[in-house]
Amino acid sequence: MSEVTELIEKLNTEGDLGDDEFLRLLGCRRTMTGNERDELRRTARIRADSVYGHDVYLRGLIEFTNYCRNDCRYCGIRRDNRELHRYRLTDDEILECCEEGYDLGFRTFVLQGGEDPGFSDDHLCEVVHTIRQRFPDVAITLSVGERERDVYQRFFDAGADRYLLRHETADAAHYRFMHPAELSMEHRMRCLYELKDIGFQIGAGFMVGSPGQTDRCYLEDFRFLQKLQPHMIGIGPFIPHHATPFKDYPAGTLSDTLFFISVLRLFFPKALIPATTALGTIDPTGREQGILAGANVVMPNLSPGNVRPDYLLYDGKICTDECAGMCRNCMQRRMQSIGYEVKEVRGDYPGFVYA
Ligand code: 5AD
Ligand code: FES
Repeated sequence: MSEVTELIEKLNTEGDLGDDEFLRLLGCRRTMTGNERDELRRTARIRADSVYGHDVYLRGLIEFTNYCRNDCRYCGIRRDNRELHRYRLTDDEILECCEEGYDLGFRTFVLQGGEDPGFSDDHLCEVVHTIRQRFPDVAITLSVGERERDVYQRFFDAGADRYLLRHETADAAHYRFMHPAELSMEHRMRCLYELKDIGFQIGAGFMVGSPGQTDRCYLEDFRFLQKLQPHMIGIGPFIPHHATPFKDYPAGTLSDTLFFISVLRLFFPKALIPATTALGTIDPTGREQGILAGANVVMPNLSPGNVRPDYLLYDGKICTDECAGMCRNCMQRRMQSIGYEVKEVRGDYPGFVYA
């Protein structure tokens, strides 16, 4: 048996690896044969099937503001990008997205935006409350960055049930390299623990192949995720954006991203793992391949067509010319093409109990 096959088998039976073993497995990914890659993906997919069968959960993504007070070096909507047209949806526009999404069968809405000081916490609470009243049976997910604990509590009390906040990297030096000095990894991690403590289903995650990332960074990511135990883990390739300091760095690769999806599935069998838009951007069938490598969630875009090109986190982002119905149907077809079925359900973490 080859070294990589042995490590995968051990990971699959024990659900964990020692630090050295983990780093050896990551080293192997550079020289794995096609057969070994297939074997890893198959093993991870069998794991995912054992929890989720052939169901793929749908999340409707509403990108409601692209204003951001932060200046992350990788991100296209960073504050310093002066060439970007900024927008903020009105309450009515957000509700129309939900209305349309609900009619298309979505039972989870993800309200995502930059850290927009012009959209107050009270205002966001009102929007959440309105959505909660209008659609009692949907899951409301927020993805609006770092806030104070009492604000998170107010979001929760207003009716939000989930919160996505990628930790981005659990390696302190890498975090400093990717972010301006005023942002700290400790604060970001604290936010995640607070969100979980309040009772949100939480999502963390990181980019694959980002500038300055080493195999040790991934090790830190996995150890952090093992401590945090988030319900969702979102990963996607880093993709350069032309108006950012990281514009000249290469994108993360499809094979690395699929590798990490599979390894995540074996470490976290029950986790919700999305096949992300970034994965669909670096390869036309990236999302299908992501599902086949062990992912079980897709997040079609529900944002109004006219603002989609402005929510450009990275160059080449797909689905900016489409409308909600097109993405919904496209995704259904894509999943059916590989023998999977999108499910019109909330899709909670298995066994999750609300406080
Ligand atoms: N390439 C890929 N993903 C990116 N994100 C931000 N900028 C990029 C980029 N250039 C990801 C971050 C963030 C999520 C919303 O999008 O991980 O948390
Ligand atoms: Fe948007 Fe395919 S999911 S066009």
